[in-house]
Amino acid sequence: MWRVDKFVIKGPHRLKGTIDAGGSKNAALPIMFATLLAEGRHSVRNVPRLADMEFSQRMLLHFGCPVEQRFHKSFGADWMVDATKITSSEAPYDYVRKMRASFFCMGPLLARTGRARVSLPGGCAIGARPIDLHLMALEKLGADIVQTNGYAEASCKGRLRGGKVIFPKVSVGATENALMAAVLAQGTSVIENAAREPEIQSLAKALRGMGAMISGEGTSTIEVQGVEKLRPMDFAIPPDRIEVATYLIGAQMSGGDVTVRGACADDMEVVLQMLEQTGAKVERGADYVRVIGSEKIRPVDAITAPFPGFPTDVQAQWITLMTQADGDSLVTETIFENRFMHVPELVRMGADLTISGSSVRIKGKRGTLHGAPVMATDLRASASLVLAACVADGESEIKRIYHLDRGYETMEHKLEALGAEVDRHVDS
Ligand code: EPZ
Repeated sequence: MWRVDKFVIKGPHRLKGTIDAGGSKNAALPIMFATLLAEGRHSVRNVPRLADMEFSQRMLLHFGCPVEQRFHKSFGADWMVDATKITSSEAPYDYVRKMRASFFCMGPLLARTGRARVSLPGGCAIGARPIDLHLMALEKLGADIVQTNGYAEASCKGRLRGGKVIFPKVSVGATENALMAAVLAQGTSVIENAAREPEIQSLAKALRGMGAMISGEGTSTIEVQGVEKLRPMDFAIPPDRIEVATYLIGAQMSGGDVTVRGACADDMEVVLQMLEQTGAKVERGADYVRVIGSEKIRPVDAITAPFPGFPTDVQAQWITLMTQADGDSLVTETIFENRFMHVPELVRMGADLTISGSSVRIKGKRGTLHGAPVMATDLRASASLVLAACVADGESEIKRIYHLDRGYETMEHKLEALGAEVDRHVDS
């Protein structure tokens, strides 16, 4: 059970200073399951210290793959995953229900052992989040799949076989599962309407380092020549573009000046351009990104879309920014059906927000937020409440911070380095 912590944050503060980007959670999770594809000891560096990563470590151990962690810096860790043998091809409900990304183990388990029995993840706070596209892709690659008692059971006689997977809608996780199944299949596979996210590109790079033959990642069409065997990876996790975007939005929202070292501007160009449209000054360094906040914030509408569009994982943070803009804006969520749970909490802090269907209308005005007790509900909603509390006038209490700990490494320390007043307390 997660410890029930809360943040107590006093505002307003301008966020100013320099912090380091952590490794990307959404890149690291599929890459951890990709280690199941090859016998031997895999080295994965710059893994963020997050609850979700600890969870994936427990899952790897459950499959028979112990992980050693080495801590060289004040953040992150290097992992050594020993995938010499797989002793279980089953991911039980108790695991998958706590982290739906566990479902990414299905493709690699099936490709390596010829079978996988994975609990259906069920929904989560932000939506139903079905896995039909994952199962369709694996069937196209030769898997026989039955769904019984809440589990998906996949099997194949011998190797999977190359095939054509055409996704009717873009899915990051289903693209990752298909990619990890195809690399050991017999023959050529083509994945059409594939997700183009940087996390797909880093997974492909990690697999290529294991000897996989992949081309086209980052475009909508990925081609894979299956191979018989792969070797262990030696790979460094790229920076977390969503974490970086969160702090840079905080810089603009508070009229501050934040530099994030290790950030990759190319992974977040649409967010940077939109920040510039609001009036921020953006510096795109070779290995950093800096945002200098403007006194006035221009309202800029946002519509979430698959990469390279505006990321759904930045939607909540953008709404918080727009509460400080001079004028009205509209934010529309097109990916998930229930991703506005931060809205009523922001209203409790004084924001003027109106939900209509899949959009939120924001009547922005700087200085309208005041401190209040609020509740975190999901990972990115929590981040948007923390940002709001940093600029709100007075003290805020944000409960259920375990949501935040899933995707933001030591957020209170990074915010303090930027001049915010944040204390973590165990919630009595
Ligand atoms: C990944 O989730 C990310 N998680 C999410 O980040 C992110 O919001 C999402 O991609 C979209 O970018 C990880 O990478 C661990 P999808 P994923 O499959 O793969 C529907 C965060 O905050 N769909 O691209 O689950 C689905 O319901 C998390 O870090 C199906 O219909 O997202 C959604 O509407 C939240 N059938 C849309 O596709 C399927 O089989 C996109 O989902 C799969 C998905």
